[in-house]
Amino acid sequence: MFNPTRSPVRKSVIAGNWKMYKTQTEAAEFLQGFLPLLEETPGDREVVLCVPFTDLEILSRSLHGSSVRLGAQNVHWEPAGAYTGEISAPMLTELAVRYVIIGHSERRQYFGETDETVNKRIRATQSAGLVPILCVGETKQQRDRGETESLICQQIEAGLIGVDQGNLVIAYEPIWAIGTGDTCECNEANRVIGLIRSRLNNPNVPIQYGGSVKPDNIDEIMSQPEIDGALVGGASLQPESFARIVNYQAI
Ligand code: 13P
Repeated sequence: MFNPTRSPVRKSVIAGNWKMYKTQTEAAEFLQGFLPLLEETPGDREVVLCVPFTDLEILSRSLHGSSVRLGAQNVHWEPAGAYTGEISAPMLTELAVRYVIIGHSERRQYFGETDETVNKRIRATQSAGLVPILCVGETKQQRDRGETESLICQQIEAGLIGVDQGNLVIAYEPIWAIGTGDTCECNEANRVIGLIRSRLNNPNVPIQYGGSVKPDNIDEIMSQPEIDGALVGGASLQPESFARIVNYQAI
């Protein structure tokens, strides 16, 4: 159903982030259950699966000819080199990857990702013709201290230095809402996303909400005029729940 409150220029992007879940066998099983549930999915939304590197090849083959796009969860900024354990953008393009999540809070928190490395990864992603999904978001402590706005603006400003805003998705993921079942109130997510948009040169960048998105809250989330999609963790692991999210109906 078309949501009349959202600008028709902005595409809705619903992306699953599988994080470190699913072997190739499990990924293939997921697709068998998931793809048949997309027969009625409206064409106004892009559906993306951001999967572990080891699942990319099998999904790339299985998704050939489907409208579902493939995404990775990170990328290095150099095209090749002595960087043990890293994956480069050309390696992803060869597998028909289209999107790359960059700067997820779990990478910032556990793997030392900074605004500077995030920026380098985004630029490398774009240079290879891929679409970065830049993640930003505050901790509970930062929110309680009233730092949400300044932190988000800093992450956006530093992350987007030298970046083409015509080839970009942003995800607002309040860290306290990730994996907790504690979804950000829709109007608050809408407000912060509006703030992010006000800092951009291109107001048509799709901006997603992420954090405990579920089948029972997606319709309300997608009814917010500033929210252009969702980045979904736990609820993207089951075909039925992710299909229900993808097939959202804005209220
Ligand atoms: P959950 O949907 O499990 O809260 O995870 C959100 C997330 O981190 C998506 O990138």
